[in-house]
Amino acid sequence: MSHRYSTGSDGCLKMASNSTRRHSPNFLAAKVLTKVFQGQPLEDALYEHHESKDIALLTFLCYTTMRHYYSLHQRLSNISHRPLDQMDVEVKCLLLLGACQLQYSTLPAPLAVAHVVTAAKKIGKTSAGGLINAILRRYDTAVEPSMEEARYELPQWMIDRIKTDYPNESDEIFRTSTTRAPMTLRINISEIGSSEYCDLLQEFKIPFKKTALENAITLVKPMSRSKLPGYEEGYFSVQDLASQLPVSLLEPQPEHRILDACAAPGVKSRQIADVFSNNPVDAYDIKQQCSTWNIPTDSGNKQNLVFKQGDLTTTSWWDGTHYDRILLDAPCSGSGTLSRHPDIKVTRNEADVSQAAELQLKLLNNLWGILAPDGVLVYCTCSIFREENDGVVTRFLTEHQDIAIEPFELPIGRPTPGGWQTLPKEQAYDGFFFARMRKQ
Ligand SMILES: C[S@@+](CC[C@H](N)C(=O)[O-])C[C@H]1O[C@@H](n2cnc3c(N)ncnc32)[C@H](O)[C@@H]1O
Repeated sequence: MSHRYSTGSDGCLKMASNSTRRHSPNFLAAKVLTKVFQGQPLEDALYEHHESKDIALLTFLCYTTMRHYYSLHQRLSNISHRPLDQMDVEVKCLLLLGACQLQYSTLPAPLAVAHVVTAAKKIGKTSAGGLINAILRRYDTAVEPSMEEARYELPQWMIDRIKTDYPNESDEIFRTSTTRAPMTLRINISEIGSSEYCDLLQEFKIPFKKTALENAITLVKPMSRSKLPGYEEGYFSVQDLASQLPVSLLEPQPEHRILDACAAPGVKSRQIADVFSNNPVDAYDIKQQCSTWNIPTDSGNKQNLVFKQGDLTTTSWWDGTHYDRILLDAPCSGSGTLSRHPDIKVTRNEADVSQAAELQLKLLNNLWGILAPDGVLVYCTCSIFREENDGVVTRFLTEHQDIAIEPFELPIGRPTPGGWQTLPKEQAYDGFFFARMRKQ
């Protein structure tokens, strides 16, 4: 088997396998989902097959199965004598994929079952073929799922947390988490004007909607970025609307040095370098193998931007010169992005949230030391959980006497005690938290 490397949708280096072309969508989908259960993000696992002629179907199978994991799992559990979670992981994935097609595709049931059984044989699970066949053929007798997890397509711990944190908005959050995420573009204003790019989209007959931000538009129908006009020229970046907000809070003076902390794959780094084209920008991440770290890309090749590797819980990477502006886009639970990354609701657990909060606080404490006096640090997460947002800010405030929380307003979302929160909104944007702190 030969492999090729190329850059993924998130800008990171990915391996493409030519096995992709030889196998059926069910075979590939079972392989992808198995990797997800083993800890790989769905987007990355799927990207390995981006050159497959069946990529659209493969994407549908994997995303729909993850989006509806809890109801599919419950229906299957109702008709299986053996608990699903005690089965071989590939067999479990094949059953979920079969159930997904019986529930959400127009394929005749016998054909859907036959495809899955054939995939099982190809994977080397011939002996499980009979079991898969027997369970899937009983699928239409499965009772409608009644558990909350199946109703909301979320794990119980997330349901409880969302209800506690957002008693009035929980229904909309639950609903949005099973929808498809929108595709929003940030127009790269150092390359092309916003209205000029909109004219280009109209010329190519690509429908789009204006947003609350002048330089952001949302496509009516998501499509491959490489098919959009100006892809080669770097006229745009694919970037969620809420994710475009924190950069505006930096407000640097022309001579200010900016640190983009936790920067991979560099989406916000490129935005900072684009919007503040006269400011030197250092982008650091603990990750090493990322295209933007070592391979210049069309849209990432900015003169004022340098990508480097470093563990930002330490100062081993630091040259000793303080930064005037820091953006900390912290690693988090990703709970604001469930429609974009449905695998999060299947693979994360409650302990991950507390662990993320500890790391966020550690990063803040360390970065505060390298912020210049009167400097500004913008903290953000793509989480909606209070523990990672206001919870972390509150803890951070108790550890330092020289922090002034600065109020601000943004075109979407609402204020919180320590910052600003957007909640995921169907076909609009993800859930994000932002706080701005000045060093006194
Ligand atoms: C939310 S992502 C950042 C997304 C990025 N800002 C963007 O817009 O493309 C969080 C990042 O934190 C990085 N990270 C986690 N722990 C880190 C550490 N100790 N030091 C530096 N980066 C870290 C992860 O590798 C991940 O790339």
